[in-house]
Amino acid sequence: MSGAADRLAVVVLISGSGTNLQALIDAAADDGRFTVACVISNRADAGGLARAAAAGIPTRVVDHTRYADRAGFDSALGDAIDACGAQLIVLAGFMRILTDALVARFRGRMLNIHPSLLPAFQGLHTHRRALEAGVREHGASVHFVTAELDGGPVIAQARVPVLAGDDAATLAARVLAREHVLLPEVVRWYADGRLEMRDGRAWLDGAAIETPRQC
Ligand code: GAR
Repeated sequence: MSGAADRLAVVVLISGSGTNLQALIDAAADDGRFTVACVISNRADAGGLARAAAAGIPTRVVDHTRYADRAGFDSALGDAIDACGAQLIVLAGFMRILTDALVARFRGRMLNIHPSLLPAFQGLHTHRRALEAGVREHGASVHFVTAELDGGPVIAQARVPVLAGDDAATLAARVLAREHVLLPEVVRWYADGRLEMRDGRAWLDGAAIETPRQC
């Protein structure tokens, strides 16, 4: 196994319970292809902070309510990310809209997991909206972050069926279980140097991703 210095330093941004963060922590421990170098939350009460602490990972809180505007918050957030020595930034349930300036600062080095089969259901309340729309399939997507909210090039998706009797909670749980496999897999691709964003597209193994990979 390679030493810690050889591993990709991943900084994970969270706002909530951090089950996707946990999946990344577990994957990093299992195969050592990357390391979770730091966890940053915009909320001091995010449950994921305890997960990080339990794994001995440094944490930072950059509380958005302490900044007068988005630009000030994003500037501080960007400085916190850089202070962690981030090579890749993963938004794992990070519920703040980022400014164009912050996205540009980390262009090509920032991934987001979104609970829908993008481009369907960008934004919030994806599970409820999927049920209301009557779709038969739902899921999650991992994409590079660009200035367009939930609009960057999609890398990979996990699909689940919508079952009779589902409500938003049962559907969300089915999707979330698949997120925990999907997100570490994409981070591994990046850590292995297989994945990049170029010319506004996602590339895997030197080929542009026309249709998101299914995980
Ligand atoms: C996940 O379902 C993630 O896809 C979603 O928040 C949840 C976080 O769960 N992200 C978004 O909605 C981003 N717009 P977790 O804190 O247990 O990982």
